[in-house]
Amino acid sequence: MTTAAASTPTTTSSRTSAANAQGTPEIIITCSTCNIGDHPSCLKLTEKAQDTVAHYSWQCEDCKVCMVCGKSDDEAQTVICDDCDRACHTFCASPRLSDVPEGTPRVKLVLSNKKTKSARKPDPPEQAMLPFGGRLTEADAKISACKPTVSDRAKFKKARIQAESLAAESSPALSSEAAENGTPVNGRRGYHEDRTSRGNAGDDVYYAPAEPKINSIYFGTREINTWYSAPYPEEYNGQSHIYICEYCFKYMKSQYLAGRHKAKCPLRHPPGDEIYRDGGISVFEVDGRKNKIYCQNLCLLAKMFLDHKTLYYDVEPFLFYLLTENDSEGCHFVGYFSKEKRSSANYNLSCIVTLPVSQRKGYGGLLIEFSYLLSQKEGRTGSPEKPLSDLGLVSYRRYWRRTVLRALSEVEGEEVSIDELSSKTCMTPDDVVHTLHLLSLLTKNARGEYVIRCPRALVLAYLAAVDAKKGGMATIKPDLLRWTPLLFKTPITTTTMPVVVEDGADEDPDGDGDGDADVPLPVNTNPPQGEEGTKEGQDNGEGATVLNGETDDEEDAVGSSDEEA
Ligand code: ACO
Ligand code: ZN
Repeated sequence: MTTAAASTPTTTSSRTSAANAQGTPEIIITCSTCNIGDHPSCLKLTEKAQDTVAHYSWQCEDCKVCMVCGKSDDEAQTVICDDCDRACHTFCASPRLSDVPEGTPRVKLVLSNKKTKSARKPDPPEQAMLPFGGRLTEADAKISACKPTVSDRAKFKKARIQAESLAAESSPALSSEAAENGTPVNGRRGYHEDRTSRGNAGDDVYYAPAEPKINSIYFGTREINTWYSAPYPEEYNGQSHIYICEYCFKYMKSQYLAGRHKAKCPLRHPPGDEIYRDGGISVFEVDGRKNKIYCQNLCLLAKMFLDHKTLYYDVEPFLFYLLTENDSEGCHFVGYFSKEKRSSANYNLSCIVTLPVSQRKGYGGLLIEFSYLLSQKEGRTGSPEKPLSDLGLVSYRRYWRRTVLRALSEVEGEEVSIDELSSKTCMTPDDVVHTLHLLSLLTKNARGEYVIRCPRALVLAYLAAVDAKKGGMATIKPDLLRWTPLLFKTPITTTTMPVVVEDGADEDPDGDGDGDADVPLPVNTNPPQGEEGTKEGQDNGEGATVLNGETDDEEDAVGSSDEEA
């Protein structure tokens, strides 16, 4: 074990403050095997254990081996000493334990090192006095020279870094050690680099390993089937399932470890500011810089449900907004979105995921609405990072459709510009035009002017149907937001044209007698998504078809999300 003054404590803010609150110097105990460190108070070590761990090679929970036989197998039969935090098999302990005691996994157990195996014959008295029972000479038995010095450790660290960078050059995959420590490896940015199977060799794109894949995760009280692989360290990826703490997202290999972790996990809600609460749901803002490991673990979890995600470790430039369902036990994570602190591309959302067990309950829509509420507070428009996944596309289109139609229905007077719709909805002008295009509402009239066909009766009926459907679902109430933006408005420069809102009386906008808008659309020739995205636009013309959009078949185009076990 090493104890050292921590130059940069890597614990969560709540942990750090817990350590500081006691006014004690910041001591970090470092695992002698994996080198991960933590504060003794965060490790929940008893005072006595804190004293005693200074005298031997301490190991963290993941690396603990039985102090008698030196093996880490048979975790179910391993107990941890309250006084020295060392592990021992029940069958290696002296006296031997018949089983792990019931109840709390940490037991008071005084281990005796003097007698190991009762069956072993005692050494003859003169041999017992000699090191290694006389089997080695005194000079050979000296082990003090083998103890790594500070300079040995520095050399080892340097060699390891060199080896890792060499390995990273030949393969962009992440080193398992760095992954375990949660340290950034390649510093790549951007969640949604295009990840096609035909990616060009040499592209600066990270390809998540296709195999092996963890099939399911135990999260809180649920088992959830995963959709995609995630770059967990190799020894975790080899498992058919892993256990993830629902509060701190720590991943573990066994139920036993998960149980032990649960008993001492200090978190009951995300470690950031609660910026929104409405009854039983809350939104927390977590800073990727302040809670790095937490956010990295969240990204790894999210990757299991998101094919395109390419960022796991470079979380510092992002803020994470986590939606929780609250009860007396704690705030249970249901979904999140991340947002760049400064987005040069004007993205107001980088990545959004709802856990499969919580999907199709309106939470995704809620998070999307929330991202636009934040944009509204910032006084800017925004758009999600591209490309969108199939499910992301469906969710966004649904949100955009009802938002644009609601804004249109609230237009007073006969004229509105794309800019006005954009600032009213906080959607970018491109997204407004794209949505109007998909709804076949943007067209040219007989006089050659661009107009928005707005069959008001249908719009109002559609919105009433949406409100009725969402009746039981949570909606965002802007008044409940307690948040000050990091960034404020930058001027919006657009060159969109004014449009005329019609009352739906003009059934033949282009005057050719067929009631359709045949004139090629002058805008949105390059819609945000691929051409497959124009399916709704092909139902051109009849507002009823579009506005009763529940009939569109895009739902069939995406897979079922009921993957949970
Ligand atoms: N099939 C058809 N429609 C669907 C489906 C589906 N499988 N899932 C959602 N929808 C529709 C809903 O009917 C709803 O429409 P409505 O608002 O008109 O009622 C709308 O999409 C949103 O549904 P919600 O229940 O609010 O959203 P959900 O909680 O299911 O979350 C999300 C949506 C976040 C996209 C979720 O499916 C998910 O996590 N998917 C996996 C990760 C992913 O693909 N994320 C998006 C990546 S793109 C990006 O990050 C920028
Ligand atoms: Zn935890």
